[in-house]
This record gives sequence, C-alpha cells and structure tokens, in this order.
Amino acid sequence: MKRAFTIFAVLIIAGYILSCQHEELSGLSFDDDLEELLNLKSSTGSYKGYILPESNDYVSLPNQDPKNPVTGIKVELGKMLFFEPGLGLENKYAPSKGTYSCASCHLPERGFTAGRFQGIADGAMGFGDSGEGRFKNPIYLGDEVDAQGARPLPVINTTFVSNALWAGSFGSFGVNVGTENVWRQDTLIEINFKGLQGLEANNARALIVHRQVVNKAVTDSLGYTEMFDEAFPEIPVEKRYTRETAAFAIAAYFRTILTNRAPFQRWLKGEKNAMNQQQKEGAMLFFGKAGCANCHNSPSLNAFPHRFFALGVNNLYQSGFTVFRTGTEDLRNLGRGGFTKQEEDMHKFKVPQLYNMKNIGFYFHGASKQSLREVVEYFNAGVPENPDVPASQISPLFHPLNLTSREVDALVEFLEHGLYDPDMKRYAPQQVLSGNCFPNNDPISQKDLGCN
Ligand code: HEC
Ligand code: HEC
Repeated sequence: MKRAFTIFAVLIIAGYILSCQHEELSGLSFDDDLEELLNLKSSTGSYKGYILPESNDYVSLPNQDPKNPVTGIKVELGKMLFFEPGLGLENKYAPSKGTYSCASCHLPERGFTAGRFQGIADGAMGFGDSGEGRFKNPIYLGDEVDAQGARPLPVINTTFVSNALWAGSFGSFGVNVGTENVWRQDTLIEINFKGLQGLEANNARALIVHRQVVNKAVTDSLGYTEMFDEAFPEIPVEKRYTRETAAFAIAAYFRTILTNRAPFQRWLKGEKNAMNQQQKEGAMLFFGKAGCANCHNSPSLNAFPHRFFALGVNNLYQSGFTVFRTGTEDLRNLGRGGFTKQEEDMHKFKVPQLYNMKNIGFYFHGASKQSLREVVEYFNAGVPENPDVPASQISPLFHPLNLTSREVDALVEFLEHGLYDPDMKRYAPQQVLSGNCFPNNDPISQKDLGCN
C-alpha cells in the first residue's frame, strides 16, 4: 500500500515536472533557445551582434567613408535629393523633363524597390498605388528608357553595403580589392580609382545613369544651394554643387535607413513578446535547420563581408514580363562574373539583405518569384530553375532542405512579419524644396499621388 502510494506520488511529481518543461518549451525557454542559437551564429559571439544601429546614432553607423562622415544636414539634404524630380534634366524627350527621381525605382512603401519587376525612371509615366501603375511613355522606344536588367536592390540597411549592386561593382575597398584591372575597362566603374566606399561611388554614377543633373544653376533654381553650403563647407565652391556632393549627401541619408523597429529587432533588444511563437520558430529554422544564416548572417542579414553565390534563378529577360534594355547579352545576367570576368564568378550574385521583403513583391535579381512562400519553397526544393547556369557554379549550400509544410509556414512568417519594420515612411521627406510632386512628377503620377 505504502509502495503503491510512493509510485503514485512519484508519477504525479514526474507529470508535474514534465508539464512544466512542456510549458517552458512553448514559453520562456524558447526565447532562451533562440538566444543560444544566435550566440553561436553571430560573428560577435552574442545574439546582440544582430542588433541594427539607431538611425540618429551617427557614430555607430558602420562602414562610413572617411571622406564623407554622416552628419545631420547631409542626411536631410540627401533625403530630399533622392526624391527630387527637379534633378531629372537629362531626359531623352521633352515631356519627361523634371518628372522622375531616384525614388521612382526605390519607393519606401515597397521596401525601397520599384513596386514592379523592373524600375523605369526617364521614359515612363504613372505611379498607381505604389509603383505598380508605372508604364512606358509611348513616345519612347523600349531601348530609350532608363531601365536596367535586374530588379532594383532595396536601399535599406545599406550601411552594411561596402560594394554596391548585385555584382558588387562599386566601391574601392571590401571585395573589390584586387579587381583594379577591370575598373579601367568601363568609364562608369573607373570611379573606383577615387578611393570611395560603395555607396558614394555608386550614387555619383547613378546620377549620370539615371539622367540627373546637379550644378549651381540647378541647386539655385530648386532651392538647395544653402543646404549644400551647410553640408559641405570644407569643399571649395567650384566643386560644392556637383553630382559628387549630391551623391555624398544621399549616401549619408542611406546609412540612416535602418529597419530597427522590426519585431525581430525589438525581440533582440529585450521585448520578448515582439515576435509571436511562429515567428520565433521561423527564426530558429532560419538560423538553424534551414541553413539560411550560412549565407545571410550580418545584422542586415546580407553577407558582410560580401559573398556571391549562384542559386540558378532566372534572369529578368526570362521572367515572362515585358522588360526593357535587357536580353541574353546583358552582362548583368552573369552577376559578379560580369564584373570580374573570372570564370569562377559567373552567375553568382551578392547575398542581399532580408528586411522588409513583404512589400517588394518580386524576388531574386530576375524577379522570378512573386511571393516569399515561393522563395522559401524554391530553397526547400533546392533545384535550380535556370538551365543556362552550369551545375558546377551552383552553390553546394543550395540543396533540398526537407522542411515540413509547418516549417515552411514558420519560415515565411518570420521573413514576412518578423523581419518587417512597419514604418518606413519615416525615411521619406515631408516635401522636396522645389515643391514638386514626388517621387514622380508627370501628369498621371501627379493624379495618382494626389498632388493636384
Ligand atoms: C530606373 C530605375 C532606378 C533608378 C532611377 C535608380 N535606381 Fe538604384 N538601382 C536600380 C537597380 C535595377 C539596381 C540594381 C542594379 C544591379 O545591381 O545591377 C539599383 C541598385 C542601387 C543601389 C545598390 C544597393 C546595394 O545593396 O548594392 C544603390 C545604392 C542605388 N541603387 C542608389 C540609387 C540612387 C542614389 C539613385 C539616384 C541617383 C538610384 N539608385 C536611381 C534601379 C534604379
Ligand atoms: C548559398 C547561400 C544562401 C543560402 C544558404 C540562402 N540564401 Fe537567400 N539568397 C542568396 C543569394 C545569393 C540571393 C540572391 C540570388 C539572386 O537573386 O540571384 C538570395 C536571395 C534571397 C531572397 C530574395 C531577396 C531579394 O532581394 O529578392 C530571400 C527572401 C532569401 N534569399 C531568403 C533565404 C532563406 C529564407 C534562406 C534559407 C531557407 C536562404 N535565403 C538561404 C544566398 C543564400
């Protein structure tokens, strides 16, 4: 009798302990497990290594260009220039004059991409709700518009970009050390000889490529001259109102565009309820079983220092969409190899950052996927879709993952909402000094944007 009672008591106690453990699994200890996993994965040895800086803590923004330290006035100036259609003065045909800006292809509400599979600035009209309503102006031939053969990269968390573009072409340092022989083969890339960081070099060239003009007459007429004076007092006046200074201001602004209010970021900073259970499970998979963090492992979840891999996705011209100025001959299809000309780099693309993917709508460099579920299913299947990419180039880290459908759901939930900062509008200006309708200023966009 006594023995039976003892067994009974032991069973009850064991049951109680087990149920506690179970509770802990779905509650507190899950946070601990995730923290432990992140400690293992983080390059700093602590989960805190994934915390993004605060946007106004300028000294903590990594990877600044010593020639262009971030200041408040540069950020304010860059924020307006990026959205200012008044700079759009190298338009091909008259009706397009002053109607497009950098932000035509980099909209805050679309994760700073175009809202469509391909961005078009000069040569297009319209905006729709958020970029999807933009279309080629019929007076332009297809190859006359400003458009590139890749889906735009988000200008989000770019303080973790040392070499800009999918191919990493711009920037004198980082992964471009040792590639000097190819810089002089392209007049645009020659800027790398100036010893600039990727954002500074990229932006100066982007202002040319995207048909924009900056000079004293332009800054006078739009109202920016005083801001340039305040931002660049050390630069002699004859060099102060140029594409280069504008590029510097925009780079300073970019470094402050950080998704530091995303639930995962809030969780890292101690708000354990900022992520729901499914997002936490997704994070466990991302940094664990699914192997995503083998490549996406910086605070922005790009690879930093940059790395390039072939996942065998389709190029933009293979997407089935009507696209301009790209095709089989486009060097952009070759990724890093199109820049270095090295066999081993062919078809390899930069590991991109992963915040605010939800609103982008078109994924991978060729916009071949239209939802994050399709992206995760592509990684889970581990089968390249593009027959033109030789199997020898495909990363061995890209292989079937055998995730269950429940695990796929969790991973998608983590990407879609855990990594989503809901307030990117805080990085858009209230106005641009010209008073223009922005980011687009053609009559159809004006209507779509509610400007008139
Ligand atoms: C016509 C559309 C379009 C316009 C206008 C445009 N961009 Fe882009 N942007 C792109 C595309 C497409 C890419 C990716 C191209 C590639 O990597 O080959 C890109 C990439 C970038 C990147 C690289 C980000 C990274 O992570 O490497 C930066 C920085 C950038 N753009 C800044 C600018 C600035 C500054 C302007 C205005 C001067 C501008 N963009 C105007 C389409 C555009
Ligand atoms: C072998 C390295 C590697 C691994 C592992 C990897 N990625 Fe990526 N990821 C990349 C590269 C490179 C790209 C860009 C490929 C391209 O567009 O050609 C990319 C693109 C993406 C994109 C699209 C980004 C955009 O701007 O369109 C998402 C989303 C993504 N990865 C999520 C994941 C998830 C989730 C996992 C884990 C299941 C994962 N990645 C595993 C290297 C990797």
